[in-house]
Amino acid sequence: MSFLIKGVSVLGKGKADLLIRDGVIAEGGAGNAQVIDADGLVALPGLVDLHTHLREPGREDAETVETGSRAAALGGYTAVCAMANTSPVADTAGVVEQVYRLGREAGLVDVQPIGAVTVGLAGERLAELGAMATSAAQVRIFSDDGHCVADPRLMRRALEYVKAFDGVIAQHAEEPRLTEGAQMHEGEVATRLGLTGWPAVAEEAIIARDVLLAEHVGSRLHVCHVSTAGSVEVLRHAKARGVKVTAEVTPHHLLLTDERATSYDPVFKVNPPLRTAADVEALRAALREGVIDIVATDHAPHAVEDKECEWGYARPGMLGLETALSVVLDALGSSAGGAGAGGAGVDWDLIAERMSRAPARIAGLTEHGRDIAPGAPANLTLVDPAARRRIDPGESASRSRNTPYAGMTLPGRVMATFLRGEATVLDGKAVK
Ligand code: DOR
Ligand code: ZN
Repeated sequence: MSFLIKGVSVLGKGKADLLIRDGVIAEGGAGNAQVIDADGLVALPGLVDLHTHLREPGREDAETVETGSRAAALGGYTAVCAMANTSPVADTAGVVEQVYRLGREAGLVDVQPIGAVTVGLAGERLAELGAMATSAAQVRIFSDDGHCVADPRLMRRALEYVKAFDGVIAQHAEEPRLTEGAQMHEGEVATRLGLTGWPAVAEEAIIARDVLLAEHVGSRLHVCHVSTAGSVEVLRHAKARGVKVTAEVTPHHLLLTDERATSYDPVFKVNPPLRTAADVEALRAALREGVIDIVATDHAPHAVEDKECEWGYARPGMLGLETALSVVLDALGSSAGGAGAGGAGVDWDLIAERMSRAPARIAGLTEHGRDIAPGAPANLTLVDPAARRRIDPGESASRSRNTPYAGMTLPGRVMATFLRGEATVLDGKAVK
């Protein structure tokens, strides 16, 4: 199948016609290509998510590789990195190869498995990092996400191990001794609600330790879901010293604050927790500046019984894949003096860098995050910046319903996504 995308603005620049043929951006005659009228749409390289929970194997009632992949495609993604906290844990070549194969079979996005750092995420022994790296899944990112690699000696050894193949350790930065029993951000709102607090320093202390370890070892560290202004300052310092550290922020930490917890609606329970308005401002500024390198969703689907219960019993996590781009447009627009009507003023190059090019580089996904130019693999997405849509959890392609944006009206809409030249989304709907 070939496509002729007419009148699209590539990265918000001048209008052009794009031909997709044989899986690549092509030149020359359109022949019998299917014509897509893209007047008013912006073409971006397919988005890349470095932090997705797909729940398969083990919790297929909450999400499967296929349903999560479909949600990703609808969100404009062409590649996602699948976190290792499945059941069984992705701590062996066998499990990462299974996830990789399921991703291929679904064929909606490239699913790149992340391997666990420690056996069973227990934080005691290193998992078979080498076997996962040399497996068919070619794992390059390792993470115990959901848990912190709290033992500094294990963290050091993990950094040393992955250095040999230019791997990266993605840390869920949470000093567990400081967050025992924590339910939400430690601060004024938690005091008012009588909920145990998760202090910012529990994140900042681990990031400070780990950038020093990464510097000492000369290895690569990636910091998951940075959530505090203090973490930004630690990262700024580390980057100025030349430490090989990259960092992500989630869409929800860019938009929502701990005030949401006053509803006691567990849909707003997440780890790390929603923070203060000052943290949100610092995260937005850091993302613009590049102290935070990327947006990653931390898409965390949960079954109804794990979410629609008392706050204290609910699992942390929220959906993110289908709404990420809209939330980022909203978050960067409202304080950047940016996103006006029709997407005027949006820095599309920044969006492409933070949501596609940089995450592809960090993950080593060379077929993704490429400029939209002749010869490049046709992994791209078409966005209608003028559209506004009301978020209806019932419309989600995810198996779960735990979106914190239900009822909100957000800017921008993904109209089409292409994976290696095949449409996965057309007219804003999943193709298969
Ligand atoms: O909120 C979260 N949910 N944070 C994590 O670190 C893990 C994730 C999950 O797996 O549900
Ligand atoms: Zn995490």
